[in-house]
Amino acid sequence: MKLRFTVNGAEREVDVAPLARLLDVLRDELRLTGTKEGCGEGECGACTVLVDGEAVMSCLVAGCQAAGRDVVTIEGAGHEAVQQAFLEEGGAQCGICTSGMIVATRAFLEEREREGKPATVEAAREALAGNLCRCTGYGKVIAAVLAAGGETR
Ligand code: FES
Ligand code: FES
Repeated sequence: MKLRFTVNGAEREVDVAPLARLLDVLRDELRLTGTKEGCGEGECGACTVLVDGEAVMSCLVAGCQAAGRDVVTIEGAGHEAVQQAFLEEGGAQCGICTSGMIVATRAFLEEREREGKPATVEAAREALAGNLCRCTGYGKVIAAVLAAGGETR
């Protein structure tokens, strides 16, 4: 089937199998390999992208569900402040999980801004609860989320 959608601000059209995962459409058809596959089962968050501003796990979404929608991957504009905070706070750890954490952080901070609420430790932990790390831990990740939101621990 033909899939038309917006990816990182550009209109795209690709031929895909009807049930191809959004993750595979992005990585294999569009060569946007910054989005990573960890578990492939919706458990780890490594594949997180934004669909109409909402963080979703692209391994659980069929590409056809993104038809006509606005998808932003780690390669898209708008992640810069979060990326910088992850660099400065040491939140960039193994590399497989970091893309998803940054995308999820952006969705979280934009939601807090819309709602006029601060990015607290508790809220940051809850927002990134679906982004798993098995290498180091979450201390520096949460510090990076708070720094990106202009907060300190
Ligand atoms: S690869 Fe999608 S949640 Fe793990
Ligand atoms: S950040 Fe990837 S396993 Fe820890």
